[in-house]
Amino acid sequence: MSKEGAAATRLAVTGATGFVGGAVRRAAEDAGWSVLGLGRRAGADRRWDITDGPLTDPPDVDAVVHCAGSASDTADRRAQWAANVEGTANVLASFPGARFVHVSTASVYDPLRPTALADEDRAPVARYPDAYGASKAAAERLVRARRPDAVVLRPHAVYGPGDTTLLPRVLAAVRGGTLVAVGDGTQRISLTSVDNLAQACLLAARGGATGVFNITDDAPVPLADALAAVLAARGVAARVRFVPLAVAFPLACAAELAHRWRGAGGAPRLTRYAARHLARERTLDITRARTELGYRPSPTSFAGAATW
Ligand SMILES: NC(=O)c1ccc[n+]([C@@H]2O[C@H](COP(=O)([O-])OP(=O)(O)OC[C@H]3O[C@@H](n4cnc5c(N)ncnc54)[C@H](OP(=O)(O)O)[C@@H]3O)[C@@H](O)[C@H]2O)c1
Repeated sequence: MSKEGAAATRLAVTGATGFVGGAVRRAAEDAGWSVLGLGRRAGADRRWDITDGPLTDPPDVDAVVHCAGSASDTADRRAQWAANVEGTANVLASFPGARFVHVSTASVYDPLRPTALADEDRAPVARYPDAYGASKAAAERLVRARRPDAVVLRPHAVYGPGDTTLLPRVLAAVRGGTLVAVGDGTQRISLTSVDNLAQACLLAARGGATGVFNITDDAPVPLADALAAVLAARGVAARVRFVPLAVAFPLACAAELAHRWRGAGGAPRLTRYAARHLARERTLDITRARTELGYRPSPTSFAGAATW
């Protein structure tokens, strides 16, 4: 986004110490905006745990991009609810007069069915087997109820420099020269580069559009191609072996139990959420973002992934 086209905007970014929020912050600064980055870690302009309650002295900003949250599919249910739902309520209460951009997720689509070029009206659904989807759906409902003028963005599988989730987990799952993946590899998946997501956040923060928008790269890709491209870009010589969900799901249950039993940090190699999610088509229709937000995404590419 060029400096020329952007009106000077004072922007607050929650989760600015994280992967998505950090990219939003850099993109806004590159566009000449004045940015206040909020987070708990060092590196935030202002430290704020969003579960502690609303800010008592919030900064005067034109827009807020709310990226803070728990993006883990293995976090404790209570902690996930606190960060994603109660935290969102506190961010809403802190900035009643600013444009509100809420970074949600495609995990609000029905996890038990394929998501085939889904439009925005297909979610949220009534029930979620996982705490992440449930908490993000509840947060969306809260935002839409309290701020009908808000923009809700639903990215899917975000990758790029600083990725804390997707790429590290794919690479960590390679064992003995083999990467075990779920399904048969032909299932298509919509991925989202963090630069594309940052572009959407800034378009939304400028104002003009309201509502819910799917956000992905230009077009979906088969899962086998995406995994091969990631491994090649990182110079990892590994064979991808696909196994059916009926085999992967019990393995994921065992991996989660063993992980919990060992008390290890991070995430196990395979989770039930990931197995269920990856086994089926996960593609989103981004027509609404293109037409109403003016979103112009680049295609999926892992060029430069060697340095991520
Ligand atoms: N990564 C993906 O593939 C993906 C896909 C779809 C949607 N999303 C959504 O994108 C958002 C950001 O995810 P991410 O991938 O950037 O995760 P991340 O790298 O783990 O960053 C999470 C950010 O949220 C902040 N945060 C978490 N709990 C907080 C709390 N209680 N108070 C204040 N700040 C808190 C963290 O701050 P500190 O580190 O300073 O504590 C960090 O800045 C999430 O809402 C997630 O649902 C991500």
